[in-house]
Amino acid sequence: MLWLALLLASAAQAADWAWSLPPGFPVPVVPADNPMSASKVALGRRLFSEGRLAADGQLACVACHRPELAYTQGQPLPQGAAGQTLPFNAPTLANVAYLPAYGWASPTVTTLEAQMRTPLLGEHPVEMGLAGRESQVLALLRAEAGYARDFAAAFPDDAQPVSLDNLIRAIAAYERTLVSGRSAFDRYVFDAELKALTPAAKRGMGLFYSERLGCGECHAGLNFSGPVRAVGHELAQAVFVRGLRVPGLRNVALTAPYLHDGSLPTLRAVIDFYDRGGHQRPLRPLRLSAREKADLQAFLASLSDP
Ligand code: HEC
Ligand code: HEC
Repeated sequence: MLWLALLLASAAQAADWAWSLPPGFPVPVVPADNPMSASKVALGRRLFSEGRLAADGQLACVACHRPELAYTQGQPLPQGAAGQTLPFNAPTLANVAYLPAYGWASPTVTTLEAQMRTPLLGEHPVEMGLAGRESQVLALLRAEAGYARDFAAAFPDDAQPVSLDNLIRAIAAYERTLVSGRSAFDRYVFDAELKALTPAAKRGMGLFYSERLGCGECHAGLNFSGPVRAVGHELAQAVFVRGLRVPGLRNVALTAPYLHDGSLPTLRAVIDFYDRGGHQRPLRPLRLSAREKADLQAFLASLSDP
């Protein structure tokens, strides 16, 4: 009867989690060894803000991925716990569950669990600086009744639930719940709410997807980042241009400064960058009028989910 027990156990685990996704959004792919559960997500949410994971006792994930800025940091380049400046701008975590690859320039990092080794353990440069302090930090968590209880609830089959792998699994499960899809654009497309977009945003949408501008060729799909990874979709590949991954554009009005190095302070500066020729080599100037620039900006602003 072992098969029956296993079947019931996996059914119980699956029953513990129901995605609540915006209209039009597919179910994210979840690794087989890290199924979703409410207790795991709750633990991950808490660990996401846990400053004691960092060498300075403060630099939690949330310090660089701030919810009010759509999980970005608001600075061009963040500093790690040892004071080193990181080489990249902190990207949004909204809809990370759907990305086929993580990081601005890391095509081989394809799961959130693998990605997390960089902020936690990376030494070139140091981000949170957990490397070498793992057993000390795990002992600290184990000694706290609240954490001991929450890890045991999230990983009920483990003899030693407070482990680095489980800490990573819990935060990854939490990250997968950061789905954002109720912008004015979504209400226009998925709710057929025709007044959700202003006339300027509608003109901007036309420009965005036009052959002349070609924005939609790279910023394609549900996340404006190219193909998404989701249940029932074909195996998606991330799109890279000159070594840089095409970033998504959801909530982009909240995620300044822009580009991999945070070098452009405003959306208007990004539009001017494309107007001058963008990433294309040879440069491909667009010769946008002042009104076209304003329309494009209105469209980009319509992608924010309140
Ligand atoms: C010191 C600031 C900082 C901290 C702390 C930090 N991150 Fe990040 N995060 C970044 C930067 C910078 C990048 C871009 C790295 C790259 O492109 O290689 C990034 C990238 C990511 C990505 C990839 C997103 C994408 O669109 O590709 C995820 C996921 C992520 N971080 C999650 C986390 C988690 C989880 C934690 C805590 C365990 C964390 N980060 C802590 C700065 C930070
Ligand atoms: C050839 C592919 C391609 C095309 C076409 C393209 N983009 Fe991009 N876009 C990218 C890449 C790659 C980046 C990241 C570049 C960097 O970090 O230096 C980017 C970055 C951006 C950003 C900044 C996002 C952020 O979070 O920093 C915005 C906004 C943007 N693009 C809007 C547009 C608009 C509007 C158009 C049309 C005028 C457009 N893109 C056309 C590939 C493209």
